[in-house]
Amino acid sequence: MMGSSPLATCPISWRLARPFLLLTAVLVLLILVQSSPLISFALSHSSPHELARRSQILTKRAYTRAKPGPLPRFHARTQSDRYAENTKPVLVRNATIWTAADGGNEVLTGNLLMHHGLIKDVGDVPLSRLQELELENMGLEVVDADGAWVTPGIVDLHSHIGVGSVPNLNGAHDTNSHNALILPWLRSIDGLNTHDASYQLAMAGGVTTAQILPGSANNIGGQAFIMKFRPTAERSPSSMLLEPPYTLNGTHFNHSLAPRWRHMKYVISLPQSFAFIFYSSPLHLTQQTYVRENPSVRYGITRLDSGWNFRAAYDHARKFRDAQDAFCTKAESGSWDDLAGKSFPEDLQWESLIDVLRGRVKLAVHCYEAVDLDEIVRLTNEFEFPAASFHHAGEAYLVPELLKKTWGGTPTIPLFASNFRQKREAYRGSEFAPRVLSEHGVNVVIKSDHPVVNSRYLLHEAAQAHYCGLDSALALLSVTYAPATAIGMGHMIGMLKSVYIDGIPQLSQIDHYVPGKTTPPRMPNFDAEKAATVAYEGFPPPEPRSVKRVLFMDVSGLYMRSGGSKGNVEIVDLEGGTIAPGLTSFGAPLRLVEINHEPSTNDGRVRDPLDGDLPPVLGGKVMRAQDGLMFGSRNLLLAYRGGVTTAITAPSGAFLQGISTAFSPGAAHVRVENASILDDVALHVAVSMKASASVSTQIAALRNMLFGEGEDKVLRRVRKVCAFLPFLLGETTLVVDVENADIMATLLRLKDEFESHSGRRLRLTFSGGTEAHLLVHEIAKAGEYNARNMRFEVGWSFLTSNGAINHTMALALTTINLERALGVQREMPQDLVAYRGGDVFEFEAKVVDVISETLRRTDLFV
Ligand SMILES: *[C@@H]1O[C@H](CO)[C@@H](O)[C@H](O)[C@H]1NC(C)=O
Ligand SMILES: *[C@@H]1O[C@H](CO)[C@@H](O)[C@H](O)[C@H]1NC(C)=O
Ligand SMILES: *[C@@H]1O[C@H](CO)[C@@H](O)[C@H](O)[C@H]1NC(C)=O
Ligand SMILES: *[C@@H]1O[C@H](CO)[C@@H](O)[C@H](O)[C@H]1NC(C)=O
Ligand SMILES: *[C@@H]1O[C@H](CO)[C@@H](O)[C@H](O)[C@H]1NC(C)=O
Repeated sequence: MMGSSPLATCPISWRLARPFLLLTAVLVLLILVQSSPLISFALSHSSPHELARRSQILTKRAYTRAKPGPLPRFHARTQSDRYAENTKPVLVRNATIWTAADGGNEVLTGNLLMHHGLIKDVGDVPLSRLQELELENMGLEVVDADGAWVTPGIVDLHSHIGVGSVPNLNGAHDTNSHNALILPWLRSIDGLNTHDASYQLAMAGGVTTAQILPGSANNIGGQAFIMKFRPTAERSPSSMLLEPPYTLNGTHFNHSLAPRWRHMKYVISLPQSFAFIFYSSPLHLTQQTYVRENPSVRYGITRLDSGWNFRAAYDHARKFRDAQDAFCTKAESGSWDDLAGKSFPEDLQWESLIDVLRGRVKLAVHCYEAVDLDEIVRLTNEFEFPAASFHHAGEAYLVPELLKKTWGGTPTIPLFASNFRQKREAYRGSEFAPRVLSEHGVNVVIKSDHPVVNSRYLLHEAAQAHYCGLDSALALLSVTYAPATAIGMGHMIGMLKSVYIDGIPQLSQIDHYVPGKTTPPRMPNFDAEKAATVAYEGFPPPEPRSVKRVLFMDVSGLYMRSGGSKGNVEIVDLEGGTIAPGLTSFGAPLRLVEINHEPSTNDGRVRDPLDGDLPPVLGGKVMRAQDGLMFGSRNLLLAYRGGVTTAITAPSGAFLQGISTAFSPGAAHVRVENASILDDVALHVAVSMKASASVSTQIAALRNMLFGEGEDKVLRRVRKVCAFLPFLLGETTLVVDVENADIMATLLRLKDEFESHSGRRLRLTFSGGTEAHLLVHEIAKAGEYNARNMRFEVGWSFLTSNGAINHTMALALTTINLERALGVQREMPQDLVAYRGGDVFEFEAKVVDVISETLRRTDLFV
């Protein structure tokens, strides 16, 4: 039955045999009072070919009803499908094992044995098992965990790893098709780059498996695939897949086999980034009826279009499904006459959407607001199909009862821990959403959307969700068993039980394991913040309460920038917490950007002098961040609530960016009199291989700006805007945003040249600096949403530096050292932040108070 399609043609012999068969059928009917269709089928004297055809049709009929899931004998298997020959058995001894069983509450101390790609024993490994292994004579790799934690591999429910590759080169953008809006027939695996550098990085963060989704440029972007990150001997994308559907490599596969889960990506709100897209109609590739006359007309897509696109596609698939069912009903009732010369209604382009209607596809639906959620819930009910997960779903926590109306059961909600407000739809997103949803009994998953959030830090994202109140067991489940079950793979991944995983060690260079604490950390209480978030539909007032005097009790540590102390009196119990200098943020465009994807909320980009004319009206002036600042921003006040008391912001742009400014993020809600700490901090320039002008052009322009030489027309024009030389002479630091080590070397040469030529010192600082391993950048540069998580980012660097960075240094890096690097020479105000329950870099701590010398204010957040 595999290979050629016998269904396509009706053999002549069948037509000739028809009268005879008909007679037989009548006789059979007369003989058997209660003949079942199957019996009449069996007794009819059809040609072998016809019998085979009928058998195939009935097999397909059975297949249309079959549901995916583990086969009955799945748990009795002795070897994984993905077992790699000659992999030694591995014994992990003396581990603290979090199994994900018992609602995420089971913790075992003991050993774990993996063999033949399966987990054979968890907790106790019986002696008899080790004796069996000895007989097999394959050797045994023993890993001493030394009490460290062992968990199931982390599962990322939403990733573009391999299709949106690192490095991000033009030849590796296979996340989306831009050819139509409804594309259920496309498959992410067709674009999977096996050389993405992120696989290794993600594995270093414990991520072993991910769902690779198409991007969000279409309503139906295509089919998704579940892949494991470890390299395979075959080195192919197919060999990295976990239990791929048979359609992967067969149109006419064996329909006697039980179906396997398939996966697909939907975008319910506006398809991202493509407010305008070339398309003739949602279905233009097949459906004449839908083809509009002029396919080259640009249509603006709104939510209204999206809604109809889905309904049109479903209506089409439903007609196919109904035709199949009608065909099968006739076959089952033995009405073969009616089916003479007819083929089973099929269409390769629409078969995946028909599978959605048959409940065999785990849908990943990208949607944000209540309006989007309402639409997908209505769609599932109109066309009667289940939806596995609603991704991003920033407003899901506001409409839990709506989620429960989804046809086929409440979907899982995969969320970011804190990446909100980058676009309007996400503006009501909340870090308390995982907790709120879990309290409503909804399954929550934390996902990366890699490379949006680096998959490597997925566990850290789950930790943040726990920090904001998601139960510790649920937080761990949110990146293990919960995503595994959301894709129908809970029988294979996400939980440590005997039967499982490929069992192949991936990280060979671990020289020590950190023994685990056995109790989860005590997280701060955010009950009031959570309640306010729901009550204000995502916009709880972020302003602090200013008080006259505070008395801190039970303080376990006080860190200061320099000597001196302050304090007045309202009693705040820090429960063993500490008081430390407020952090300084640099890199996030705080106060110049509110919603990244909404130009009307941003300062905009500075024009590039190397990319055409600068308006003469500028008169050669350099842009100042000071002039573009916006007040009252939510991101800013949340950063302040996260312990950031100084923000240094530069205008954003290519090449000549402008002059940065330092201000207090907490100043936004009052008169801005003292908002500014330093009007002008440094002059910022970017030199990049991604700019429109070549690197040598940028360096030449910089040289011209420094030395005032060059006869070229363009250079003359550039020099016009370079009235900033006085800044340099006035010892203002030149901050160059640069990633590449070769460019840095060139800039250092330029600095030497300048200094020997002018006899003056050039204060030069590199920001960016990926290749210089400048910690300052790594911890300080972030999206505007992320400035408030700065202390966790620093804590993370501190923790993973293997002792190279101590607490004092970590604090200095985010305050004094950073300011000095940017050229701040004066003494900065002594702004202090009080942490309840722990220290600045710890998850146990909550910011409760800022004592701002800058603003001459004491602000309470509790
Ligand atoms: C297991 O590891 C812990 C932590 O290092 C150690 O204290 C203990 O002695 C080890 N137990 C065994 C049986 O090796
Ligand atoms: C088709 O895929 C299956 C995995 O589902 C694999 O076992 C088989 O070898 C593949 N066949 C071909 C011809 O690639
Ligand atoms: C199809 O699968 C069934 C069930 O596993 C098996 O018995 C049968 O031999 C397979 N047919 C072909 C043609 O491979
Ligand atoms: C601003 O700072 C000055 C001292 O630098 C202080 O006298 C004044 O009260 C402050 N203004 C406000 C509104 O806090
Ligand atoms: C922290 O590290 C710095 C730099 O290595 C060192 O000078 C300092 O003594 C260390 N402080 C403590 C408390 O260990």
